Amino acid sequence: MKALLAQLTGIYGPSGKEEAVRQAIQQEIRDYVDEIHEDIMGNLIAVKKSSSLSGKKIMLAAHMDQIGLIVTNIDENGFLRFSNIGGVSPFNVMHRRVVFQNGVTGAVSFETELEDIKKLRLNKMYIDIGAASREQAKKLVQIGDVAVYHGPMAESGDRYFGCAMDDRAGCAVLIETVKTIKDSPNELVFVFTVQEEVGLRGARTSSYAINPDIGISVDVTLTGDTPKSRPMAVNLGDGPAVKVKDASLICHPQVKNLMIQRAEEAGIPYQLEVLEAGGTDSGAIHLSREGVPSGVISIPCRYVHSAHEMVDKNDLENAVRLLTRILENEIHIPGL
Ligand code: CO
Ligand code: ZN
Repeated sequence: MKALLAQLTGIYGPSGKEEAVRQAIQQEIRDYVDEIHEDIMGNLIAVKKSSSLSGKKIMLAAHMDQIGLIVTNIDENGFLRFSNIGGVSPFNVMHRRVVFQNGVTGAVSFETELEDIKKLRLNKMYIDIGAASREQAKKLVQIGDVAVYHGPMAESGDRYFGCAMDDRAGCAVLIETVKTIKDSPNELVFVFTVQEEVGLRGARTSSYAINPDIGISVDVTLTGDTPKSRPMAVNLGDGPAVKVKDASLICHPQVKNLMIQRAEEAGIPYQLEVLEAGGTDSGAIHLSREGVPSGVISIPCRYVHSAHEMVDKNDLENAVRLLTRILENEIHIPGL
């Protein structure tokens, strides 16, 4: 898991430019699934067929994309102005090193005449790629190019931290689950989605095409365990979180209860999550067609959308155990 996570978090893949991530995941899982293809949006869809006629069709989703900075203007001195792809906070990107798809690196800084740092906005910031003029800069970067945080994953104790844990950690959990499951009564459709960070877009189209009986996504969530953080009952290392609600969905009670039941009978640690702001792919899946009973297994993560997103390896391993246990057994949801 560690090597896989280090590899995945090091791949360039902001929303709309997920090619390299998709390629790496395809390499990892193609020998473990019955079918695999890429759809029009760029989602990677892999199917493990069921061994029983009474099985359910379950869509699993983790998003491949990460947040980024998109170049909107290049000034005469070669500084790049940018806007956000997804949830980019000025404080998180301040003085970070970023990298473009072609390998050009830059430093993010801001107009120093700004008097009140609380008034820092992205339109007061710029990327310095070391160019001396607009002409020089244009040889390296074009309008519309996207930069992402740059830097390798680090490890300390049981914790891994780095960029793009959101949601390459979820991708890693799905990949390990694909490899772990030998036989399932259910048809399992693993979807590595595009463009989650800009509005759950890949999940929206793929869930329509797949038309699943149940939807489960795996994504990171915030924690409430750092100094003076906002109150939230999720702690790093206390187990994967079974989502109850976020801003994009109220999880189907029976899918949520199934997750809790499977965790308890197997002695897998878990926590319950209410996320006040933010959403994930199940937000789109559950509104597909006539509605799809959906839930989320969340990976607790500190400093989400920063360059140092931190996860705990036990949470990742327990997420794989929980997901495997859910998928390997028959699912009975009354009315389904
Ligand atoms: Co995110
Ligand atoms: Zn995410």
